Amino acid sequence: MADPLGLAWALDWTRRAQATLAEHRMELIDLDRAIGDGDHGENMDRGFKAVVAKLDESPPEDVAGVLKLVAATLMSKVGGAAGPLYGTAYMRAAKATEADVDAAGVVALLEAALEGIVARGKATIGEKTMVDAWTPAIEAAKGVAQGGGSAAEALRAAATAATEGAEATIPMKATKGRASYLGERSIGHQDPGATSTAYLLACAADAAEAG
Ligand SMILES: Nc1ncnc2c1ncn2[C@@H]1O[C@H](COP(=O)(O)OP(=O)(O)OP(=O)(O)O)[C@@H](O)[C@H]1O
Ligand SMILES: [Mg+2]
Repeated sequence: MADPLGLAWALDWTRRAQATLAEHRMELIDLDRAIGDGDHGENMDRGFKAVVAKLDESPPEDVAGVLKLVAATLMSKVGGAAGPLYGTAYMRAAKATEADVDAAGVVALLEAALEGIVARGKATIGEKTMVDAWTPAIEAAKGVAQGGGSAAEALRAAATAATEGAEATIPMKATKGRASYLGERSIGHQDPGATSTAYLLACAADAAEAG
């Protein structure tokens, strides 16, 4: 994929996200069953299926247009915590993305997404939420961007760090969201939202490396 990343990348990312979330639907349901209400896999699968249907209906013209379409669709089609959280993330990311995306643009996009999640959910690092995947992802992408790496390299580093961040939620005690009702019993389970974040960022990196 060309660097900076453009419309083709954003479309490919979104379609890969739909396929990956469909593939991991049961895994995300099981993770959410352990510490929540078991709907996260269903929420994300339904949301991204609706996103792809919208993409076919009204094709966006640029990266920001794709991100905006994802945001609006997740906000309207996905209930619970994740719909508004991811919806706000994608909306802020769209606003932070004016043109095609280079490594610095990847950092700006991810930072804006996290700002949206925090504005909405008020979680900080260590509370066993998707914030624990986004935060190390941004740090990793920044390292690549500052070292002169490409957008694809920044996304791969972000995805790897998000996967590690999601795994690092296992020993954490949840203090935000539905999982916090479990208190100590939330310890020992991986957070579903951090896991879906890791999948989304892996798809972004895969799309950047493809073609
Ligand atoms: N305040 C928050 N800040 C950031 N992320 C959060 C917050 N609350 C929940 N989450 C994330 O959302 C995920 C759960 O999403 P899910 O789609 O299952 O919604 P839900 O919690 O079931 O929503 P509801 O309880 O409103 O039905 C968690 O795994 C966590 O990562
Ligand atoms: Mg849930």
